[in-house]
Amino acid sequence: MHTQQSLPVEIAGLGRYVPDKVLTNDDLAQMVDTSDDWIVTRTGIRERRIAADGQATSDLAIAAARQAIERAEMDPAELDAVIVATCTPDHLFPATACLVQSALGAQNAMAFDLEAACSGFLFAMGNATAMIGSGMGRNIVVVGAEVLSRITDYTDRGSCILFGDGAGAMVLRRAGKGEVIYTEMGADGSWRDILLVPAGGSRKPVTHETLEQREQYIFLEGREIFKLAVNKLTELLERIPQRTGISMDEVKLVIPHQSNIRIIRSACERGGLDPDKAYVNIDHVGNTSAASIPLAMSEAVDEGLLERGDLVLLLAFGGGLTWGATLLRY
Ligand code: ACO
Repeated sequence: MHTQQSLPVEIAGLGRYVPDKVLTNDDLAQMVDTSDDWIVTRTGIRERRIAADGQATSDLAIAAARQAIERAEMDPAELDAVIVATCTPDHLFPATACLVQSALGAQNAMAFDLEAACSGFLFAMGNATAMIGSGMGRNIVVVGAEVLSRITDYTDRGSCILFGDGAGAMVLRRAGKGEVIYTEMGADGSWRDILLVPAGGSRKPVTHETLEQREQYIFLEGREIFKLAVNKLTELLERIPQRTGISMDEVKLVIPHQSNIRIIRSACERGGLDPDKAYVNIDHVGNTSAASIPLAMSEAVDEGLLERGDLVLLLAFGGGLTWGATLLRY
């Protein structure tokens, strides 16, 4: 699904939080048969952050949301909704968003979680944009937060090198000078088996057997996902200028989901985008799934790479399979 209707939705504030603990490639090389050189060359990742014992997704989400609200100079009571995109919620229920809503003191906000793996943030942002655009709400905080280290198999060198923990948040507000120009969200569940956590849901509750098979952890067919991700991101880079009439030359910065530097570079090459326009922070945070895009955008703004009025393209691809794109004026 897509919409080309420009909506008066502004990013009023951005925030982020990463845990203190750093897990380097050399640390991982003590745990599995890998090396710093292999990981850097094949993924672009040098280190990632890991949540402390007892630190859950909502703890990260609350810290990021507080910073975004502070920067938006807003009273949390003005929020109409709190949406948390995550595939590592604190509990199956209540929603992590409810825990965040209560901690923020957002007493007038409804709250819900949205699960679309690495595309979760853009799906949540798409829903928030639609709510604000329709007049249903004026102020919404959208958070992407993950503690992926709890579902990562640190005996599997093909996956454990990728993931990190973190959170990013965005306060979206009606009016102001910003606008969301184009939103696209897509899914293809026929690829559900190449990237999943097999056990722990209603299909396969956790048992001694599933624990022995390590099915409570992320399973991924890396090579296959790699190809599908490059193809889909390339397709999005080609389609968006055709649909919007806005060329990639006019876009100041592209903020892709941080999955693998080689996925980002290949998609840029094939989609005709100058790779220098793609913001990359995967070197120090790894793949943080739903947290990745707001975390990266918050860093980009703090680095002075974006000014009000600049065009920004957000791109995501992940489990489901799912994908999304949002073109906005910051
Ligand atoms: N260290 C050293 N060697 C390794 C490692 C490692 N950590 N991992 C794999 N290898 C080996 C493999 O065993 C293989 O050896 P072989 O040739 O002897 O069989 C060789 O390296 C090449 O393996 P590939 O899997 O082809 O390596 P590739 O270049 O594809 O990189 C990777 C693997 C990094 C996983 C890549 O495929 C990738 O990034 N895929 C996308 C994953 C992703 O982003 N998924 C999103 C999930 S997040 C979400 O939605 C929640």
